[in-house]
Amino acid sequence: MTEGRKLRSREWFDNPANIDMTALYLERYLNFGLSLEELQSGKPIIGIAQTGSDLSPCNRHHLVLAERLRDGIREAGGIPLEFPVHPIQETGKRPTAGLDRNLAYLGLVEALYGYPIDGVVLTTGCDKTTPACLMAAATVNIPAIALSVGPMLNGWHKGERTGSGTIVWKARQLLATGQIDDAQFIRLVASSAPSTGYCNTMGTATTMNSLAEALGMMLPGSAAIPAPYRDRQECAWRTGKRIVDMVAEDLKPSDIMTLDAFRNAIVVNSAIGGSTNAPIHLAAMARHVGVDLPLKEWERLGHEVPLLVNLQPVGEYLGEDYYRAGGVPAVVNQLMGAGLIAEDALTVNGRTIGENCRGVAIEEEAVIHPWGQPLVENAGFLVLSGNLFDAAIMKTSAISADFRARYLSDPADPEAFTGTVAVFDGPEDYHHRIDDPAMALDDNTILVMRGAGPVGYPGAAEVVNMRPPAYLISQGIDAIPCVGDGRQSGTSGSPSILNVSPEAAVAGGLALLKTGDRLRVDLKSRRVDVLLEEAELDARRAELAAGGGYQFPASQTPWQEIQRKLVGQLDSGAILEGSEKYQRLAQTQGVPRDNH
Ligand code: FES
Ligand code: MG
Repeated sequence: MTEGRKLRSREWFDNPANIDMTALYLERYLNFGLSLEELQSGKPIIGIAQTGSDLSPCNRHHLVLAERLRDGIREAGGIPLEFPVHPIQETGKRPTAGLDRNLAYLGLVEALYGYPIDGVVLTTGCDKTTPACLMAAATVNIPAIALSVGPMLNGWHKGERTGSGTIVWKARQLLATGQIDDAQFIRLVASSAPSTGYCNTMGTATTMNSLAEALGMMLPGSAAIPAPYRDRQECAWRTGKRIVDMVAEDLKPSDIMTLDAFRNAIVVNSAIGGSTNAPIHLAAMARHVGVDLPLKEWERLGHEVPLLVNLQPVGEYLGEDYYRAGGVPAVVNQLMGAGLIAEDALTVNGRTIGENCRGVAIEEEAVIHPWGQPLVENAGFLVLSGNLFDAAIMKTSAISADFRARYLSDPADPEAFTGTVAVFDGPEDYHHRIDDPAMALDDNTILVMRGAGPVGYPGAAEVVNMRPPAYLISQGIDAIPCVGDGRQSGTSGSPSILNVSPEAAVAGGLALLKTGDRLRVDLKSRRVDVLLEEAELDARRAELAAGGGYQFPASQTPWQEIQRKLVGQLDSGAILEGSEKYQRLAQTQGVPRDNH
């Protein structure tokens, strides 16, 4: 099937018209044992974009899976070349892993475009690794397939499931109210991580891998397989075999990541109770593959979709349960029954999502609920705006039933939530002051976090979800509304208004807020407004400008400075603005010029 089409690796390794350079390219790839016979055989060179390392424990199991990937690639007649991707680990990287997604993207674009690679396996897993890889594959547009590393096994403590991230919120409450000591706190949190793999809750990792499958970029049924299962090894082998055929078929990201595919992903995200990071990453991927996906589509297509998957933080279960219940195909089949999936969208196995998922049964209805018995109706995101910002996201499946009934569900009741804001400039400010009784917070408070966006933090940190002060928790108030220009951990269940764009650091309206201002949150009209006259807002704007604008910490590294100059806002994917004009490099740019 490759007849008539010259693989790009031939430009390096088998170009008689340029024997000088061919020799130069060949000699160094021979030096670790590859043979001329292999490199000039016409077999496709398959890159393994390796995101696992000791610095990236969530993805580290990919170092093991790569062996089975290589087996599959070899068996199907390809030659594997494994190379590292800039490490990203969500909970280890300071000041935030959010800073590194675009850096890994840039590095991977250069690797895929500048080296003799005909197709690539993207080893996905921890939150940002999945979008970074898919964004780069979209830009270069060579055949690409994602292999998830899979979630950790379920965590357990005293007979109860303990899930990644979610247990931290619970443990903090127990610690704050003196029910456990420091050592017990650490043991309880660690119980949620019993094996290799990524977060076992419906956090950003499970979300993004589920969506990579829903987009068609991963073998059907593969996203949810836990990392240590033998099925995961088998899946690596199948993935390796499949990418070789994809090169023969010239099946590229642009054939798969179409508008229909993104729409399917939005619908699936609602049904799984996916992370509020998903709109950011899908916007970024869509822009790099040239698909127009306005933020409002998340509400238009996603809001009325019910929550079907009963995973923590919103529900009860964890990754192993999700896999056993049927994973993504079982969810998609339910959504297809309701007519919500564009069934003709093509996937990496060469078949459509409809063909892959039709008839896939739910194996455990406690974990994946059937269409008619959802956990929550209308579980998708709301897209909010108001007199302080143009766009923000709210995950409605995380709102308490009480709050929903009062402020969202009853269309006849025009009641809006009005609260008094307590404003924090970054998480240090929050931690320093939150438990101070002088703040006099109550259940009518709205916590505001600013300086946490792509420019201000920098990198947009997951710091908007803030726990109430200990004195409120001990009164039984364990969540109060939060608003902020940063992100929220996908493993947090608090009712937050997130990803506020534009952020305070680029003169967004949150910079004008003062503690004690009243904020009106009207979920029915999708508005969030500060109850101040326009004249007062103008006066504050002038005062802020006179003082040199909203202040945030100076850059500490070269990359922080570079990213701050180029990065866009969260509502449009926080990509490096201008980078989206480089599209489909393998087709539009040919191969780069020779290096000597
Ligand atoms: Fe890496 Fe959750 S911290 S997957
Ligand atoms: Mg996270």
